[in-house]
Amino acid sequence: MKCLVTGAAGFIGSSITDRLLGMGCEVVGVDCFTDYYDTSIKRANISGAMKSSGFTMVEADLNEVDIPPLLDGVDWVFHEAAQAGVRMSWGSYFDTYVRHNILATQRLLEAAKGSQIKRLVYASSSSVYGDTPELPLVETARPDPISPYGVSKLAAEHLCHLYFVNFGVPTVSLRYFTVYGPRQRPDMGFNKFIAAGLTGGEIAIFGDGEQTRDFTFISDAVTANISAAQSDGAVGRVFNIGGGSRISVNEVMNILRGLLGELNLRHEDAQKGDVRDTMSETTAARTVLGYAPKVGVPEGLAREVEWMRSLGVSR
Ligand SMILES: NC(=O)c1ccc[n+]([C@@H]2O[C@H](COP(=O)([O-])OP(=O)(O)OC[C@H]3O[C@@H](n4cnc5c(N)ncnc54)[C@H](O)[C@@H]3O)[C@@H](O)[C@H]2O)c1
Repeated sequence: MKCLVTGAAGFIGSSITDRLLGMGCEVVGVDCFTDYYDTSIKRANISGAMKSSGFTMVEADLNEVDIPPLLDGVDWVFHEAAQAGVRMSWGSYFDTYVRHNILATQRLLEAAKGSQIKRLVYASSSSVYGDTPELPLVETARPDPISPYGVSKLAAEHLCHLYFVNFGVPTVSLRYFTVYGPRQRPDMGFNKFIAAGLTGGEIAIFGDGEQTRDFTFISDAVTANISAAQSDGAVGRVFNIGGGSRISVNEVMNILRGLLGELNLRHEDAQKGDVRDTMSETTAARTVLGYAPKVGVPEGLAREVEWMRSLGVSR
């Protein structure tokens, strides 16, 4: 199999890339190394892949690069490139979200229209749901994002679907519920909590800490991507990809205390655009993709702590 991974130097894209190379696939990675976080982290993410003869890195922006040649001979596309992060998506920075999340996806889909690809798996997000009192979240619930980021991810998801309906581009959208583990982005909660725990810094808890999330370990998210590419029944559909358990921020702190010792907590007001609770209903993914998340939060957090220790993060 030949694959194109967009956002290949990012947290999830690099993890998919490594799995594909391990499966013996040929992989073309494209990434423009946005400065949303330190690009040396992204270089480290793909340093292993760069040693593989099966990997080609194209350093380019999907908004500018000639995409059809990148799709030449490609069977599977994993579209992970995006401007991530909810909190920065307000105000004048929104144009960055439009550019990297919506316009880039539309350019990719236009190119895919005339190609021979067998699957395009799009990285959507649980943030398309917004704040709904009805949990667990089912794919058929009306999406109602409460952040500009969620709006941009939903717009791109709709684009994927309409290129499937109108032009037969074989798209699948995976709505990830907070992914974590080794290589997690430095702006994400667990990474910040662990870094602070390891260095003795303060951990900011927004709101009362009773907000809950469905956390998905990275290897489970990667497996879901491979299954979405392989499964015939997946085309044209949307699937929730969650970790299968819902846990509050306060419970996460208790697990971290067990791993790192006493923590230095600081409470702040809840943030606009942050949803209160997420919990995925994953029956569709389980049935069609054979999805069965394997790593729970206590083990997953221990593995993220181990990874951050291996980077030399310490007091
Ligand atoms: N991490 C999560 O918990 C989570 C949850 C839901 C959805 N997602 C989605 O999963 C995908 C991957 O997220 P991540 O956490 O790995 O983020 P990330 O920021 O680590 O990776 C995204 C990569 O895309 C690249 N990129 C951005 N715009 C580009 C463009 N126009 N052309 C080429 N490269 C571009 C960036 O440089 C970056 O390396 C994103 O689409 C994100 O919206 C992530």
